[in-house]
Amino acid sequence: MDRHEQIRIARRLLAHIENGTAESAPHQLKVEISRYSDPALWEAEVEAFYKRLPIVAGMSCELPAPGTFKADEIVGVPVLLVRDGEGRLRAFLNVCRHRGAPVAAGCGQATRFSCPYHAWTYDQAGQLVGITSEETFGPIDRSRHALTPLPCAERAGLIFVGLTPGMPFDIDAYLAGVDRHIAASEPETLHYGGERLIDAPNWKIVMEGHLESYHFASLHRNSIGPTTFNNCGAIDRFGPHILITVAHKHIVELRDRPESEWHPLRDGMITAQYVLFPGASITLLGNGMMAQMVRPGEETGRSTNTMVMGFYEPADDPRTATEQAAFLDRIRSVLADEDYAAGFDIQRGLKSGAQQEVTLGLNEPGVIYYHETMRDILAEANG
Ligand code: FES
Ligand SMILES: [Fe+2]
Repeated sequence: MDRHEQIRIARRLLAHIENGTAESAPHQLKVEISRYSDPALWEAEVEAFYKRLPIVAGMSCELPAPGTFKADEIVGVPVLLVRDGEGRLRAFLNVCRHRGAPVAAGCGQATRFSCPYHAWTYDQAGQLVGITSEETFGPIDRSRHALTPLPCAERAGLIFVGLTPGMPFDIDAYLAGVDRHIAASEPETLHYGGERLIDAPNWKIVMEGHLESYHFASLHRNSIGPTTFNNCGAIDRFGPHILITVAHKHIVELRDRPESEWHPLRDGMITAQYVLFPGASITLLGNGMMAQMVRPGEETGRSTNTMVMGFYEPADDPRTATEQAAFLDRIRSVLADEDYAAGFDIQRGLKSGAQQEVTLGLNEPGVIYYHETMRDILAEANG
């Protein structure tokens, strides 16, 4: 986020703090409980949102050099990301074209991918370059047995993929300019700083938590609550994506400084969080950028959050590495012990029959816009 934008948003937040106001949606929204628990809807949404739209699959700094790769499973789809010899990112289904085993696991650096089952071998472009005991296997057209490519792109230090081979993939239209907003924070200078995987409840319950600060003082009273303004987020929209910027208590110090000295993001006075539809949350922090990739699990009440952090400062010495790991662990603990613990409780509450719908307040515009976007995109997908 460039400084001009930071200042514009900081002014909005300061005005809300001064006046005791919050950004408001034009209306409240009722959301039926079934939108969190209906398995048929859940499946239709995974298909329409996760398998038909570009989604965040990682950060560019995870694959920093030619030959680096990462194997992953995203909503049940085995994915292989490879940075080829020219530094270009490629994505494939991580599926051997012989009999379907994954050709790579974990992450690392490789010039060739050898399937663990019968050792067919593929190069960084996914071409089948080796068939074990080819003379006994018999004839096969290698050119028709390359790894299946998936559409992919890199923008703003993030890796986007499409999980369905051959699907339409207009990344720039989809991002609607949000990538340029993020890119102003120079994500290309980030160094990979670690990953954490967290078990989480229903993915919508998780994403709702990213879209409001109304819960900070209560749910997070022993962690981030005391240092952050509650119920005070600035909301900006980019197509289906939503930016929520929250204010830290010492933002009020800006009032006594000339604007020429304002650096709200660098000085930790604001935190900007971009919720990229459907399930990614990109946080700009003073020390780096974090991508949280929330992915539906195997049932409606389960998801995972894969948190990846890039720091501006490389962890070249043990002390920095320890500090960075501790930073990630603190965020992990707030999410797992506070947000997701509450989320699992909420799921039980929603299932109890206490009510048929929940009401989203005027002061929860991010959550309201998110639900409206889901309805619009699903309606469009269903023609
Ligand atoms: S399944 Fe990969 S070589 Fe047989
Ligand atoms: Fe939270």
